[in-house]
Amino acid sequence: MIKVYKGTFIDTPTPESFRVRDNHYALCDEGVLKSLTKHVPREYESLPVTDLGPGIVIPSFIDLHIHAPQHMQMGVGLDLELLDWLNTLTFPGETRFTSPEYARELYPLFAADLVRQGTLRAVVYGTVHSESTMILAEELEKAGLKAFVGKVNMDCHAPPELLEDRRQSLEETEAFCLKLGDKGSIRPILTPRFAPSCSIGLMKALGALSHRDDLPVQSHLSETVSETRWVSDLFPDSRNYTQVYDQNGLLGKGSLMAHAIFLNDEEVDLIVKRETTLVHCPSANSNLGSGIMPLARYLDRGVSLGLGTDVGAGHTTAMYRVITQAVTVSKLLKILQREKGQRAVSLSEAFFLATAGNGKFFEKRGMGSSGVFQGGMSFDALVLDMGLPPVVKLTPLNHLERFLYSGDDRNIKKRISGGKEL
Ligand code: GUN
Ligand code: FE
Repeated sequence: MIKVYKGTFIDTPTPESFRVRDNHYALCDEGVLKSLTKHVPREYESLPVTDLGPGIVIPSFIDLHIHAPQHMQMGVGLDLELLDWLNTLTFPGETRFTSPEYARELYPLFAADLVRQGTLRAVVYGTVHSESTMILAEELEKAGLKAFVGKVNMDCHAPPELLEDRRQSLEETEAFCLKLGDKGSIRPILTPRFAPSCSIGLMKALGALSHRDDLPVQSHLSETVSETRWVSDLFPDSRNYTQVYDQNGLLGKGSLMAHAIFLNDEEVDLIVKRETTLVHCPSANSNLGSGIMPLARYLDRGVSLGLGTDVGAGHTTAMYRVITQAVTVSKLLKILQREKGQRAVSLSEAFFLATAGNGKFFEKRGMGSSGVFQGGMSFDALVLDMGLPPVVKLTPLNHLERFLYSGDDRNIKKRISGGKEL
């Protein structure tokens, strides 16, 4: 079915600037954008037009790093640093997902929150529990999201209740991936939590599985100084943290590594060579006092980058808030490292990451392209309205800036995924 929408569309086909198309018509065929033009093409003039209103229309958000079981701990205990935060809050919280009933109660709230905040695609961590993580996948699907979901793997340095035997961890992971399959709107992703919680044997086996079945991988890399020191002690045969993953077959084109704050030049070169995507999570990094990822430096070196909320170390599921935080922390880094000539990232660069940039991961994995209003892309959009009286003459771009910095979910009037309103 062909549908025509009228609106003012803003997107970032490239990071350098926003593209604004005022009072244009989007022609969608079965949820895929065919064209976005100033006038309705002649052969479609007789079709009804859905007016998306006086606000603006932007691509819906994509979150490349979020922990579903930590949704209920958002904002709690954020005076702790990473390793203490994991041990005192996060691991005990995740232990509760041993019970599928608990997962059934909480995961629908998580899925609904993502939709409410305009995140219609996401790459999501579950827990070590297969059954609860399968419930998470079902709830995301019911809510209309497209997502990668990972059953977490851990066979050391976690409380006994969360520790898996290596063989059991692998068997359950394989079964989980098979069950989700590689065709639907929810797909599996291998999820060794981070190097300290995985033995070399487990990492090697997951690396081999990733290569054998062409499965993507997500993990954490170089988030805090104490974690990085711990990794050097645990893996004396690796030159650095990045190499631990590389030596175990976990660093590839389909890998997402969150944080990556303290990489040396050799590590950055390896990341570029392997075409691995680094996921910036500025909200989490500020909350746990971890550090500031040198985003502009990585962008300028050609690293593939994405953006994530990292809830519950991040305190909000709102990607629009994380976009502005990425800009803010980059400005702080510029001030702090004036002697190094660090530049700040622009709002369009950060917006690009949360839409077109993050969309590339889904596109590469055959989930349809999203994140830009371009012919052939899935029509995934948010209709925004800041509700200001017309006497305040905001340009469409000002309207978007105002939403990103000071709007909230009440300003999201419609959420459209693949042409379907959620
Ligand atoms: N490193 C290992 N596990 C986690 C986690 O759950 N959150 C964050 N932010 N870092 C981690
Ligand atoms: Fe995380």
